[in-house]
Amino acid sequence: DEEKLYKRNGILYPTIMSPPENLDALKDLEAREDDIMLVAYPKCGCNWMVGVLRKIMTTCGYTLPERPRLIEFHSPEVQKIEAEMPSPRFMASHLHPDDIPVSFKTNKTKILVVFRNPKDTAVSYYHFMNNNPVLPKTESWDKFFSDFMSGEVCWGSYFDHALAWEKHVDDPNVLIVTYEELKENLLEGVQKIANFFNFPLTEEQVKGIAGESTFSAMQLSSKTSLGKYTNVFLRKGEVGDWRNHFTESQSKQMDEEFKKKLSGTKLGAKLKY
Ligand code: PPS
Repeated sequence: DEEKLYKRNGILYPTIMSPPENLDALKDLEAREDDIMLVAYPKCGCNWMVGVLRKIMTTCGYTLPERPRLIEFHSPEVQKIEAEMPSPRFMASHLHPDDIPVSFKTNKTKILVVFRNPKDTAVSYYHFMNNNPVLPKTESWDKFFSDFMSGEVCWGSYFDHALAWEKHVDDPNVLIVTYEELKENLLEGVQKIANFFNFPLTEEQVKGIAGESTFSAMQLSSKTSLGKYTNVFLRKGEVGDWRNHFTESQSKQMDEEFKKKLSGTKLGAKLKY
């Protein structure tokens, strides 16, 4: 199982999906001001927002290539093709903000960031490890929990990502939304995202996109003729599933870590922890 992951600058990555040559080639990525960029720590709702952004963009008449949007999943060859794609391009990443190619900053690319409370993120991550054949299966929930707490998971520590984004909460070209606020009011979320990227949508269109982007709607549209759901990125789609996994002491440990790292921060407040 070990070779399914490798470490680079102290951070774990999945070998098949994100080999070192992909990450090496990213240094040549020339971001554009009108690129649509989505960044999320793993399991925070990345594919949900990929779905929403795809729908927004196709509604506005753009066509997008059918391949994973994560820039670190693009081989050097695919990165060359992406470099030639017409604007607006749509890209996404799980990378730590400091590892995102610097041209995103210099060219003032707008970045949508999605975050989720760390407890549900950890639970979602745990199940994903066990359901994804290219990732090593976890030994147990307890072992995964301690790996998550120490950042020994792919793309590194949740808290490192959160602390790094905290420095950008007020950047005009960064919009941070949370999984929880999207669950509470998806319509408002879709509108906010469309406004941020200046996609002109009618109220009806926003309504339609929100309706097609609920968990059940996305699950239904991934159902095959055999009645099987095929989207591995859809599991439960709820807030609070951590209560079915965390022990009292794990919950306390997470609370303390959150307090130590994020209390008094703007991102911490957004996460309504
Ligand atoms: S990944 O692999 O890191 O890109 O995973 P990611 O897409 O970020 O996160 C997967 C979790 O998001 C949930 N999800 C949704 N929740 C609500 N509504 C919609 N439409 C939706 N789509 C995906 C998905 O179920 C995973 O969370 P859990 O808690 O595991 O269900």
